[in-house]
Amino acid sequence: LDNGLALKPPMGWMSWERFRCITDCQLYPDECISENLFRRHADLLVSEGYADAGYEYIIIDDCWLEKDRDNRTQKLVPDKKRFPSGLNALSDHIHNKGLKFGLYQDYGTNTCAGYPGVIKHMKLDAQTFAEWDVDYVKLDGCYANISDMATGYPEFGRLLNETGRPMVYSCSWPAYQEEAGEMPDYESLKKHCNLWRNWDDIDDSLESLMQIMDYFAKNQDRIQPHGGPGHWNDPDMLLLGNYGLSYDQSKLQMAIWAIMAAPLIMSNDLAAVRPEIKDILQNREVIAVNQDELGIQGLRVLTRNQIEVWRRPITPVTKSGHHSYAVAFVSRRDDGAPYRIPFTAKDLKLTNPKGYRVQDLYDASNKLGVFQSESQFITRVNPNGVTFYKFTAL
Ligand code: GLA
Repeated sequence: LDNGLALKPPMGWMSWERFRCITDCQLYPDECISENLFRRHADLLVSEGYADAGYEYIIIDDCWLEKDRDNRTQKLVPDKKRFPSGLNALSDHIHNKGLKFGLYQDYGTNTCAGYPGVIKHMKLDAQTFAEWDVDYVKLDGCYANISDMATGYPEFGRLLNETGRPMVYSCSWPAYQEEAGEMPDYESLKKHCNLWRNWDDIDDSLESLMQIMDYFAKNQDRIQPHGGPGHWNDPDMLLLGNYGLSYDQSKLQMAIWAIMAAPLIMSNDLAAVRPEIKDILQNREVIAVNQDELGIQGLRVLTRNQIEVWRRPITPVTKSGHHSYAVAFVSRRDDGAPYRIPFTAKDLKLTNPKGYRVQDLYDASNKLGVFQSESQFITRVNPNGVTFYKFTAL
């Protein structure tokens, strides 16, 4: 969507994967979907250094609404017990921290968790979002006719635009189409949305992460060309900092999300992220790959002995037109020891005759020097882990 927004993959924090639809604030005061949760995370995003690393959006996912609209005005009403100060106070708090405010809604009659959706009140809701100073809208697609989405989502986008307030527009419409076996119209998506969920929700496990990676790799020829500045494919939230991924698996998701030019939207309790995981989330070199200005989405280019090679063209580009590359080696092995494997320049499709300077993005102490086209590149990957390098074209 050419609205001047999301020229790089959006970065931020969203409630769903970790906090779901926890609404009992008596039992779970620090976890329930409430103004306290979002204020606390806006504060933590800044105090824990995430904002400095580029994370910007604080996004409320499902379960923030009252079960009914306002009787008289038909306006959406945030849950009065859990958001007693109202959304303007919350968006002010987020903006005062130098951050941006995102909100979830649903195109259909109801959100996925059963709260009122926008379909009968699209104009009013778009205006209400603007009144609440929303900067980012995630529009889900539960309880809607899939066949209406190709016109309905652009219509809501037009109404958002008419408010005059710039809002990033995240669409879930292709995920519903793909699951129904329909082919999304990516040209229309690029025109009408800043990002879109292509596929299933991510859950807190390696299995879920791998399923999503496989989906994007198997369908990459038809998905990858559509990602770029202002219009991104979205493989869903970062799991890092939760329960399901080991240290190595956490590096793996972060590396592959960087390769895929995926939005970096965390969903975790920022007060509980262990320091070594925080270091991964804030790794400046890895974030720079994700945010590379060319905005070219990477691909899985090779699998050998259960080691996958994922590769993304990035800057700098030489005068003769050779890209630099970020290359991730993902092990799908579980046979114990780190697995040592050599690759030729041809395997990796690294064709610059002058070679590349190689940098280990997770281990600066690993000095790798220059890689020439006739040499072999040897890497050693932990089980269910990753090694991640930048090859800067010379
Ligand atoms: C769908 C979306 C999720 C989340 C939930 C909320 O499943 O794909 O990302 O927003 O709805 O109910």
